[in-house]
Amino acid sequence: MTIFFDKKTKTFHLQNAQISYLLGIEENNSLVHLYFGKKIKNYSGNYRYPRTDRSFSPNPPDASDRLLSLDTLPLEFPGNGFGDFREPAYNLKLKNGSRITDFRYDSYKIIAGKPTLEGLPALYVEAENEAETLVVTLKDTLSKLQLKLSYTIYKGFAVIARSTQLVNDSQDSVEVNRLASQSIDFPNRELDLIHLNGSWAKERQLTREKVNTGIKVLDSKRGSSSHHQNPFVALVDPTTTEFQGDAYGINLVYSGNHETVIQKDPYDQTRVITGLNSFNFSWQLGAGETFQTPEAVMVYSSNGLNELSHTYHDLYNHHLIRGEAKLKERPTLINNWEATYFDFNEEKVMKIVEEAKALGIEMFVLDDGWFGGREDDFTSLGDWTETEGKIACGLENLSQKIHEKGLKFGIWFEPEMISEDSDLFRAHPDWALGVPGRGRSLGRNQFVLDFSRQDVRDNIYQQMTSILDRIPIDYVKWDMNRNMIEVYSVLLDSENQGEVSHRYMLGLYEFLEKLVTNYPEILFESCSGGGGRFDAGLLYYMPQTWTSDNTDAVARLKIQYGTSLAYPISSMGAHVSAIPNHQTERKTSLATRGNVAMSGVLGYELDLTQLSTEEKKEIKEQVNFYKQHRQLLQFGTFYRLKSPFEGNDTAWMFVSKNQEEAMVFYYRVLTEASAPLTTLKLVRLLEDENYEFDGKMIAGDELMNIGFYINPELSGDYVSQRFYLRKV
Ligand code: GLA
Repeated sequence: MTIFFDKKTKTFHLQNAQISYLLGIEENNSLVHLYFGKKIKNYSGNYRYPRTDRSFSPNPPDASDRLLSLDTLPLEFPGNGFGDFREPAYNLKLKNGSRITDFRYDSYKIIAGKPTLEGLPALYVEAENEAETLVVTLKDTLSKLQLKLSYTIYKGFAVIARSTQLVNDSQDSVEVNRLASQSIDFPNRELDLIHLNGSWAKERQLTREKVNTGIKVLDSKRGSSSHHQNPFVALVDPTTTEFQGDAYGINLVYSGNHETVIQKDPYDQTRVITGLNSFNFSWQLGAGETFQTPEAVMVYSSNGLNELSHTYHDLYNHHLIRGEAKLKERPTLINNWEATYFDFNEEKVMKIVEEAKALGIEMFVLDDGWFGGREDDFTSLGDWTETEGKIACGLENLSQKIHEKGLKFGIWFEPEMISEDSDLFRAHPDWALGVPGRGRSLGRNQFVLDFSRQDVRDNIYQQMTSILDRIPIDYVKWDMNRNMIEVYSVLLDSENQGEVSHRYMLGLYEFLEKLVTNYPEILFESCSGGGGRFDAGLLYYMPQTWTSDNTDAVARLKIQYGTSLAYPISSMGAHVSAIPNHQTERKTSLATRGNVAMSGVLGYELDLTQLSTEEKKEIKEQVNFYKQHRQLLQFGTFYRLKSPFEGNDTAWMFVSKNQEEAMVFYYRVLTEASAPLTTLKLVRLLEDENYEFDGKMIAGDELMNIGFYINPELSGDYVSQRFYLRKV
């Protein structure tokens, strides 16, 4: 992996064994994008954006002819107001009211490794030789502002991590209304856009559409990365599939308001900008100050979407997820939420724990309802003291009893929230986000604490850690059950109110950094009404996320398929729950529920004391099987074979890194009379080796090229099959 600057052609070339990323400096010192894609060994300098005179495209003051215009150049970090009429990557208001800046190339430096992003989650390196970083500085001489564009290339990964800093070297403050993490222009190709949208209980539904002329914005204004629009997009060739074709992924490492703007101009040039949401955003950047954007992780694949996902999965497992859980097999768990909701006591809990132990489950998680007198969702958020008497022996003893049985103990918190009916709210009504003099809107009967405030964070940190310090706790589920409106912080001045959403996130990240540093042995799982904040930002602190409140096996096929596009399987919490399913009322077999939940971090979320003997036997087998194979299932290479978004069948498989083992899952939603036969062809096996498969010995080349028939006798709705393969 190297980064070099060619003085002759005035180009930067970031290169590793997989990719090249090329930037050029034009004759007027505009920084332009040249190429991102498969590795180019030696770039000649020949491929440059041609000069052509487009009417109504202005020429910069220092252009020598009519051929140079910023209106068409593929600018690496475009602005507006100085010749480019397209969407800008930044929008700054200067002291004199002008929004016109003219950033030109100034200098560069190359740094070994990767600097951290102050206060923000980001990809990291463990050793300096794992990555190299290019920082290109652009300057606007008149306003004395500098843009520092940062590009990290990793050894062995088809990835460029980008972020931006704005440095204010002037004597005045400047108002930042947009500052993107990345902008990339595709001047000459047809593209499809893939994105992950949805809603509560229906997260990360995969949508693929043609990029058409005009502007499309994919964003969240909800104060969280949201159920509704995940901060991930892929731009792919129209012919790209799971297995072939060019694919570019862009994933923002951020958990708050975000936006991706896609613009195709009349010359069929496409620009994609990603970063903090500019809606209602304004940041006063004082003299001498620097603003750091979140990071955008840009991945390239020349072999379709599966390979794109593999890069994200490996990258996040090795360079985003931290702490003791990194690359470690994750425990199976039983969560009491769908088993008891708020209605639990020591006896009920211990009965579930005993059953769990008998079934081989490794951890018990006590969900919502153990604190402050909370018996429903109207009360007590913010009062993180144990409800006396609810667990008769007390939480400390409960934890001890559970540990004595050989299980781990986990507990639920919702630290960012406050109930109107809480001691905390009665004492500090101004601690909730809200506009003085106006009512506050409720969401799930609760308000949002103003996490931009240090005093608020300190109070919650102290409350939370007094529980963690007293009670042996192995796992924490960190929930967040509403979105933000009336975003106003009483401690900030009027001109700083546009900063609250981002200051909230910085406060949250500061809190989490302190928490995970001081409690390294705790496994954290984030949650937001299921998967409302499934993003790379939170994965930096919490290695797992509750994928969705929807535990229906059929609904989960789409949710988990979509999620797998960017996020590792080891980060996806997946539970077997009771039937009829509590979200969809659907009844699916225990086998199918198990086969879906095993394709993530397996857990159970049902009343184990209500199971029949056969069900217990089956669950015991599932847990046992999962534990035996979880290295493969959590960290193996995951291939999507058949998409639930395209038909009645879904199939995926996991292959071990040495390709000697694989696990294949096939699911069919609805049965059909006189149905056509289904063949599954496997991938990534060793061609010349034999595998034990379904009681037979079959060579890899046969399984990959001919495949095998799914048994036509497999009848009924919501059926599934699982195949384990091992090299003999
Ligand atoms: C959210 C979570 C659930 C559960 C409840 C508790 O909805 O997603 O898993 O923890 O909160 O109130």
